[in-house]
Amino acid sequence: MNWRTFRKRFPLPDDEIFLNTGTLGCTANSVIERLCQSQRKLAATIAHWEYLNDDREWITGYTPENNLRNRLGRLFGANPSEISLTQNATMGINFVAHGLDWKPGDEVIQTDQEHPGARCPWEVLTERNGIVVKRVHLPIPLDDPAEILNRIESAFTSRTKLLAVPHITSGLGTVFPIKELCAMARAKDVITLVDGAQVPGHIMLNIGDIGADAYSASLHKWLFAPAGNGFLYVDKALANRIWHTQSSEAWKDTDTGFRLQQRGTGNPSLLHALDAALDIFEEVNPENWCLRVKTLGDFLRRRILETPDLCAKLRFNTSMHPELCAGITSIEFVDIPLQSVVRHLWDNCKIRVRDVGEPYGLRISTAAYTQEYEIDELITKLGEFK
Ligand SMILES: Cc1ncc(COP(=O)(O)O)c(C=O)c1O
Repeated sequence: MNWRTFRKRFPLPDDEIFLNTGTLGCTANSVIERLCQSQRKLAATIAHWEYLNDDREWITGYTPENNLRNRLGRLFGANPSEISLTQNATMGINFVAHGLDWKPGDEVIQTDQEHPGARCPWEVLTERNGIVVKRVHLPIPLDDPAEILNRIESAFTSRTKLLAVPHITSGLGTVFPIKELCAMARAKDVITLVDGAQVPGHIMLNIGDIGADAYSASLHKWLFAPAGNGFLYVDKALANRIWHTQSSEAWKDTDTGFRLQQRGTGNPSLLHALDAALDIFEEVNPENWCLRVKTLGDFLRRRILETPDLCAKLRFNTSMHPELCAGITSIEFVDIPLQSVVRHLWDNCKIRVRDVGEPYGLRISTAAYTQEYEIDELITKLGEFK
């Protein structure tokens, strides 16, 4: 793959450096075309629609969308009938959290590094149903995958009902030993709900291999689908214990993924555009794509380490353990407020990074379209801070 040419498939101006894919990815030109063409066709032909049961291509939300679910299942190692299309990871996490029956005193284990979309559903349930959330403290930075396992293991009690942890954390990009965590929970008869918002298009994902009971993902970050695309995987046995947060006509369907996908009228153009984004992902090949992300992250971290003046001014919050880091690198300057760094990088250098706040720092996302020369430019500009 010629990655220079790849970059040209995105409407990113040549003189801008975009390093905030961890928030939202840039959409490729071909994906935007597919979105617009589809929207135009739907509007132009809407009068042709007789509204028969098998003829619902003008709306989504009432059809199983088997083609897309099959494709996502094949790409991410899951049975398609256990996949529901969602808007984003937050939606899927909420569907599981609010769909289970809870008793006062039931315990949920999380870390103290959750994104609000993964943390707040449990806060609601604490107030509404009296559940207890155990937040496991994780040091910054983390040096050892075993430390994650040991700390989380010590939080289990006889009342633990669910383990809800990220596969990759939001602030630091820590890649959790998720397969081991799921096995640990399963051995204790505890449900696992994995927050995979940062995962598709970032690291290789095989949900079957991980062994999670539920896995919620966003497709609009590292996979570059337009905003509003995600999926939720729920193992059939668990799906049968989950009440609908949103229900409509197929709420009793035997296809459990479709059953949990009852979301009313939605926009088919968004799904056509997701299909176009998956075309690019498959054309590049998921392994090459994810290797590229990891290679760029390692390149950035190495370039910082090779620049002694810069190293002296900052510290890494992201783990440097090779298994615990990928395309996200979070750093902090010892003496300089992060907001002034972020503002300077954009105002004077057209480099977009993100301040993800205390205690995480300045987050740099190196995605499949990021170029080595862009990382070099960032290093030069960071080195100029006094
Ligand atoms: C780990 C993690 N979980 C959940 C979310 C929420 O994602 P979304 O807004 O796409 O639902 C994010 C977003 O950055 C995240 O990083």
